[in-house]
Amino acid sequence: GTNPCANPFDVFRGHIATELSRLTGADPEICFSALEWSTNPERPDLLVPLRRLRLDKKLDVNQKAVEWADQFNKANFIERVSPDKAFLQFYFNPTLLTDLVIKDILNRREKYGFNNTGEGKTILIEFSSPNIAKPFHAGHLRSTIIGGFLSNLHEALGWKVIRMNYLGDWGKQFGILAVGYKRYGDEELLKTNPIQHLFDVYVRVNNDIKEEEEKLEADAKAAGKEAADEKAPTDIEAQKYFSLMEEGNDEALSIWRRFRELSIEKYIETYNRLNISYDVYSGESQVPEEESAQAEKIIDEKGIAITEPNGAKLIDLTKFKMGKARIRRADGTTLYLTRDIGTALARYNKYHFDKCIYVVASQQNLYFQQLFKILQMMEVPFADKVEHINFGLVKGMSTRKGTVVFLDNILEEARDAMHEVMKKNEEKYAQVQDPDKVADLVGISAVMIQDMAAKRVNDYEFNWSRMLSFEGDTGPYLQYAHSRLNSIARNANISAEELAKADLSLLTENEAIKLVRILAKYPDVILQAAKNSEPTTIVTYLFKLTHEFSSCYDKLWVAGQEPEIAKARLALYTSVRQVLNNGMRLLGLTPVERM
Ligand code: ARG
Repeated sequence: GTNPCANPFDVFRGHIATELSRLTGADPEICFSALEWSTNPERPDLLVPLRRLRLDKKLDVNQKAVEWADQFNKANFIERVSPDKAFLQFYFNPTLLTDLVIKDILNRREKYGFNNTGEGKTILIEFSSPNIAKPFHAGHLRSTIIGGFLSNLHEALGWKVIRMNYLGDWGKQFGILAVGYKRYGDEELLKTNPIQHLFDVYVRVNNDIKEEEEKLEADAKAAGKEAADEKAPTDIEAQKYFSLMEEGNDEALSIWRRFRELSIEKYIETYNRLNISYDVYSGESQVPEEESAQAEKIIDEKGIAITEPNGAKLIDLTKFKMGKARIRRADGTTLYLTRDIGTALARYNKYHFDKCIYVVASQQNLYFQQLFKILQMMEVPFADKVEHINFGLVKGMSTRKGTVVFLDNILEEARDAMHEVMKKNEEKYAQVQDPDKVADLVGISAVMIQDMAAKRVNDYEFNWSRMLSFEGDTGPYLQYAHSRLNSIARNANISAEELAKADLSLLTENEAIKLVRILAKYPDVILQAAKNSEPTTIVTYLFKLTHEFSSCYDKLWVAGQEPEIAKARLALYTSVRQVLNNGMRLLGLTPVERM
């Protein structure tokens, strides 16, 4: 019943579980999964809360703990077993622990921490999903960051991952946009900066509509009427245009297609900067006819929906406290929800996923509850495989100048600010090869770490000066620690071959052992993060690791030491660098060599 992941500790855990089972009579699998890493680095390595072994309730576990600790077969790797109330605590032999962990890291390198618990399984991760011609807002940024992380994480666990972007690329607003483009469009601007240009056009044409509506209102008032009974002419034109699109009119669709393609080209560039590449650019426009029809058929056959007198269709979910969900408008057109139902069927038919997650802001909690409930009522075979991964708001995200925000503007500003900071240290700056690139990577880290620092569901305040600071738990701090570890290795100049031969039993200091214990926990931290889908689990871990490294390095230098000591310490710091690098890349950051 051991976890198949290649974690060297599983052998130990296996032994402890067997022993626990022998002494307590509990099931060995239960014993195995009840073992926990101690969160306190000063404390034991592993511990087991005896209550979790499902023992006889009448048993006095506090007293039994003393007895069992005494009888425990420690084999060669446990230094001490100690009872603590209803817990048993295990202290590994530090020399053995150090040897095992460092060798494992140096062997497995960028694979250290990975495992194969997801082998043979497919997960579809839908994330980012911005709306064409509208700002890429904080919600999209968070979805991008968290979704990118979850994709990497599942890959590290052996899953086959399909990264999908579900663009907001359909709806009446594309009629408005097309009409607007006829008035204000500029081919050059469209080619160079489609995202900004389409947004500008969209704003202008919406202003036209607003002005027309105001005029209609004023005219109506002058004529003594309550409200205008006409729609704005531009609005009518747009509605007509969108109807043509929905009918599949090729000419109407061709301009929309260009908007979509040019926008995607730009998105790809931005996602590249963030180390994200999609397997599929899907979107609301891409829901196949077949599954839309199939969905409608199931809904009708199961009699789930109610048709209103005006022809609109809805599903009553009030008994689940989820209100009523509309799936068709009176005029017969579809809605966001209709498209999501169809698209869910299509995704399953195409990918046969074991899991499909939607990384979308908490504002859409109710919406996803409705969607999932409807899929359940439809009795689709994948109803229990879909999950909404939500997150809180970002308050006050804006560039220093403006209010409307595109992701690129945020990243540029972060890069420029970082570049200014780097320039202040002239000596170091002179050695950085491509400072603009490094500034970009560090700036991106700042934005990303700020986003992943706390639990997903929490709201946070977008804070330029805090996130760009080198002090505190920030992206630049992690990058700084990483480049410092690199410079230690550069200066020591010991080959990997030599390093592999290091005598690790020389690492006897408490600081070194503490650091090793933290390194040992990384594979489990990954599993934990996968359980709660929380990037903060990794972020918190990396800060603990870098802080511990920093205090260890205050005392245990490499430079100027006896060769054997230098080698052993460098093996330790190389392991730290590897784990930091692995963790940063898992989060989606690109670790820099120098800064
Ligand atoms: N485009 C949507 C928005 O910006 C997010 C899409 C969420 N995903 C979904 N399948 N509904 O709000």
